[in-house]
Amino acid sequence: MEEQIQTLLNEINAYDASDKQALEAFRMKYISRKGVVSGLFEELKKVPVTEKKKVGKILNQLKQTAEAKLAEFTQKLDSHASPRVEIDLTLPPVPNQIGNLHPLSLTQYRIIEIFERLGFNVADGPEIEDDWHNFSALNFPENHPAREMQDTFFIEKKGHAGSSQDMLLRTHTSNVQIRMMENQKPPIRAIMPGRVYRNEAISARAHCFFHQVEGLYVDKNVGFADLKQTLYHFAKEMYGRDIKMRFRPSFFPFTEPSAEIDISCLICNGAGCNVCKYSGWVEIAGSGMVHPNVLRNCNIDPEEFTGFAFGMGIERVTMLRYQINDLRLFSENDVRFLRQFQSVI
Ligand code: DAH
Repeated sequence: MEEQIQTLLNEINAYDASDKQALEAFRMKYISRKGVVSGLFEELKKVPVTEKKKVGKILNQLKQTAEAKLAEFTQKLDSHASPRVEIDLTLPPVPNQIGNLHPLSLTQYRIIEIFERLGFNVADGPEIEDDWHNFSALNFPENHPAREMQDTFFIEKKGHAGSSQDMLLRTHTSNVQIRMMENQKPPIRAIMPGRVYRNEAISARAHCFFHQVEGLYVDKNVGFADLKQTLYHFAKEMYGRDIKMRFRPSFFPFTEPSAEIDISCLICNGAGCNVCKYSGWVEIAGSGMVHPNVLRNCNIDPEEFTGFAFGMGIERVTMLRYQINDLRLFSENDVRFLRQFQSVI
């Protein structure tokens, strides 16, 4: 029996399975339950006890050799099998999804571009503000209704009602005007974009937070004609030469005289829609000549310097620019809306 095992060992070592059939034949012959190796294990039972240990050992070696050989053949055949094409280099590439700027950012950058060419700097100020910079310094009387809870998100109430130290979320970007004039001597020519907050019900036209760009120009001999011409220029640059614009007399505590600025509605072209409240005009900004009290509050002599200011709603300007009729779209982050601005960059 030892000889027989040796012969089989030689046979197995010399075997070469070049295809699947040869491999199967090898398995059947040596490894399957009816194969020769199994047969020899049956015969082992008949071997005399004295021999059993020795023969059993070489028989086990034979079995292991056969199994190792089978594994080797299987691997060889698998690696030779026709390769599976996982990457087809001839396919066009799947483009990466690239992000895009938010429409409000696009508009803000455009506004900055237009005013920069007129010599305006860009400035920034805090969103968490004290009452002085948001209201008192801007000539709001102590009992002015805009300070009350329904409009303003107060953070901290200190001292008496309307105290200059009360902390709040700024209700407009006009606070930055004050900060600029407190820290800089005229001439000052700057725009100040940023986010503002108001305690208002959310609708297609209003939100509890939105964006404004403040404008301020203080120098010797600045007049209302400068304000008008600057804003006319802005409207034409932003919307094209055919845009219609009008100044409506208005009131703000921090300007005298004051005007609101309307643009002909580009969403309905005057036919009437929810954005222009069926009037054909959309208000985009408040403006006016800086009130002498405001200049004085910032230690600027109103006898020597005059200035104009405006505060523009970036949402409104954007809605007219892209014909968007619901302000809530800007903060819902629906990618189907946002992706539409991809090609605009
Ligand atoms: N701050 C005003 C508002 O939020 C807008 C405004 C009006 C700003 C007139 C100005 C201005 O600078 O001169 O409604």
